[in-house]
Amino acid sequence: MNKVLVSLLLSLGVSVAAQAADAGKIVGDAEAGKAKTAVCGACHGADGNSPAPNFPKLAGQGERYLLKQLHDIKGGKRTVLEMTGLLTNLSDQDMADISAYYASQKISVGAADPALVARGEELFRGGKLEEGMPACTGCHSPDGAGLAAAGFPHLGGQHAQYIGKQLTDFREGVRTNDGDAMIMRAIAAKLSNKDIQAVSSYIQGLH
Ligand code: HEC
Ligand code: HEC
Repeated sequence: MNKVLVSLLLSLGVSVAAQAADAGKIVGDAEAGKAKTAVCGACHGADGNSPAPNFPKLAGQGERYLLKQLHDIKGGKRTVLEMTGLLTNLSDQDMADISAYYASQKISVGAADPALVARGEELFRGGKLEEGMPACTGCHSPDGAGLAAAGFPHLGGQHAQYIGKQLTDFREGVRTNDGDAMIMRAIAAKLSNKDIQAVSSYIQGLH
């Protein structure tokens, strides 16, 4: 039953990502992108390794995922108040270049809270099968690297505070850009605050 759910969700996710890719044939240029990230570096770090736990690291994130987020943020499908107006003057080519640049950088890895590791790992690798929640590894891969070609984001090493906020936002319906299949909203609905704390801490130290 659960395997069926996972493969169904996987194929949905892949087909959505494939459609998005076919829609635009613009190819990002990492070199050109670097020059366009001066304003972004203030929050996300010059190489995309943000020093602040509430600002996501972008370094090493999948290019397709990054580009989708930029389009979603610019178009208002995902609200990021801190970035208000910052994407307005960027073209589709600019955003593709920026995505290629951050994807070419290497993410720095943090550390997990030893007290939370066991529960976090259990959730990440095992899900909550009794409640029909699949393991995170199915889409975000066992080492947290995600599946770049499908637009499944890299999670390993990301700030726990940022991860925790995203999971809470998905659960509360504040973040709704996970597609018509509502993959992440359905998963986050099964997570308690304690679960979110544990799995977020685990992800911060994952590599
Ligand atoms: C004033 C701080 C600030 C600046 C400047 C800024 N951002 Fe952000 N950005 C944020 C915050 C905060 C979030 C996460 C919001 C949330 O919690 O959902 C974010 C999220 C993102 C995400 C989504 C990351 C993910 O993992 O889903 C991308 C991509 C991004 N920013 C790219 C950019 C780019 C490109 C620029 C420059 C053009 C930029 N940002 C400038 C604060 C900033
Ligand atoms: C069936 C596939 C699937 C499974 C299983 C899954 N995810 Fe996701 N996840 C996704 C996709 C696809 C996105 C990107 C949504 C979007 O485009 O905005 C995502 C996004 C996220 C994000 C936001 C990343 C960012 O940088 O903002 C977090 C955090 C996350 N997932 C955590 C988890 C955790 C924790 C689990 C396990 C409890 C999990 N996911 C299980 C597919 C999945």
